[in-house]
Amino acid sequence: MTPRDRIVTAVPLASPHLERLDEWDLVVVDFAHARRPELVDALQDAAGLLVNSHVDVDEATLALAPRLRAISTVSVGFDHIDLTVAGRRAITVTTTPVLSDAVADLTLALIVMVERRIREAIIDMGNGLWSTGLLGSDVRDKQLLLVGFGRIGREVAARALACKMRGCAFDTRGDLEPMAGVERVATLAEGLARADVVSLHVDLNPTTRHLLDDQAFAAMKPNAIVINTSRGGVVDQAALTRALVERCIGGAGLDVLEGEPPDPGDPLLALPNVVVLPHIGSATTETRRAMLDCAVDNLVACMRGDACRHALKLPTGL
Ligand code: DGY
Repeated sequence: MTPRDRIVTAVPLASPHLERLDEWDLVVVDFAHARRPELVDALQDAAGLLVNSHVDVDEATLALAPRLRAISTVSVGFDHIDLTVAGRRAITVTTTPVLSDAVADLTLALIVMVERRIREAIIDMGNGLWSTGLLGSDVRDKQLLLVGFGRIGREVAARALACKMRGCAFDTRGDLEPMAGVERVATLAEGLARADVVSLHVDLNPTTRHLLDDQAFAAMKPNAIVINTSRGGVVDQAALTRALVERCIGGAGLDVLEGEPPDPGDPLLALPNVVVLPHIGSATTETRRAMLDCAVDNLVACMRGDACRHALKLPTGL
């Protein structure tokens, strides 16, 4: 009998995923608490790896897994994986782009929450105040700038247009399908100067890290709000805090932060014009189930040597 290939999973699995993977030697590792000898032991024979965005698959981790052929992440983001090393070693990396509706719903919720000052209303209610005079701002007619016009950006646009917002989008990819009601802007600066709502839908990479910095906030309208459901690192959080405190911009709705979880004493969390959520963009029962189904399917395809449509195109340069 030939030895079975090993899959290491950082994600606890139950039926039916366990059965889907039972032809492989499945090893569960709690990466957050595992000690080095345990990791070395599990990874040295691993051919497949199942992770989520909380597991840092960096160069050091990959060095422990010399036989690795595939990494399947239960996330659409992939900034937790060293793609350069993966590409160099011809390791396939797959993602789960099945969460666009859930993230777009939460994005719209954040837009409405910040514009309508819902956090302040909830705080007042908790303090026994019935603040009927707490005036927010209409969402209708607001100019939305989508930074990143891929799957999630487009779903946000559809919802925003239904709420009678006006849409424009900045994306460095020139070949994206146009969408009625969403004008493409040529530069980020042009979009920022026009926008009442700036919503971020790009992945985190060296070109998008701190895309919104002091200079970007200074270019925005004083009442403009920033919504981030992508990755915390796309925003320079210290600069955002300054911009909010100095009233250079009007507010922010954040599902992601530069450090997660944040320091409870972070002044950003105490600002009344900011809504912060604990990275729950995809956190619905249905979407999380679809993501896990997708990630397991991706891994099975890779382990069998089949093409996987959710594989990333990786840099293969030496
Ligand atoms: C994703 O899928 O990338 C979400 O942000 C959850 O990590």
